[in-house]
Amino acid sequence: MGQIFNLRRIFNPPPALAPVVFSPVTIKVPMAPPGLFITFEGMDGSGKTTQMHRLAARLRALGRTVLETAEPGGTPIGTKIRRILLDAANQELSPTTEVLLYFASRSQNVDEWIASALNRGEIVLADRFTDSSLVYQGCGRNLGVDTILELERIACRGLKPRLTLLVDIDAETSLARARARNLAQPHCETRMDDQSLEFHRKVYEAYHALAAREPGRVKLVDGRADVDAIERQVWSIVAAYV
Ligand code: TMP
Repeated sequence: MGQIFNLRRIFNPPPALAPVVFSPVTIKVPMAPPGLFITFEGMDGSGKTTQMHRLAARLRALGRTVLETAEPGGTPIGTKIRRILLDAANQELSPTTEVLLYFASRSQNVDEWIASALNRGEIVLADRFTDSSLVYQGCGRNLGVDTILELERIACRGLKPRLTLLVDIDAETSLARARARNLAQPHCETRMDDQSLEFHRKVYEAYHALAAREPGRVKLVDGRADVDAIERQVWSIVAAYV
């Protein structure tokens, strides 16, 4: 009965009703917000997360306000999306669904956390961002760079990092470290680590192509050095931006 009533309303709306107006998106992301947006990129097991935490601690010690976030994840909604993306049980996830979910997490992060922190003039550090989609889905999954840039336009609305630190390790080292970690701490978030060596080699090459194409933004850091040495390399680059 209720259904028939609703259908009647859809096909014969009462004339007094105002037309539905789709209001424009209200969240604004200025092209150059006052804050500083820095991302960390690299293969799994590169140590980028540790480096991001160390950099955040150093910046806070200097009195700066820092938001640390991660992709996929970050926000509570992003964390739920992350579980779907990385659950080893979800083998049937198609490349298109995969890329849309990565961007769904990112768009929520931009809207809920990143844009407002940057608008307040804070420093935002992100453990992965759109460059990961470029290399893993654009190149690794062969979806193409244009698809990723189109999704970036919709999800991030022009927001790009000022600086990207690419913590560099090769595909073999990456897989060995990721698999050792997964053995030591068994968990189900291994769907991407489970991809072939060939896939990870493609990702590695794509990261290097990106660094060559955007040398002003993407800075390479040697991920095989020890953690303290990597931290010093990171700081020698970031110091010029803060
Ligand atoms: P993490 O282990 O650094 O948190 O990253 C999760 C995995 O998701 C990692 O294997 C890289 C992958 N990934 C993509 O494939 N595309 C993306 O856009 C992002 C952000 C991560």
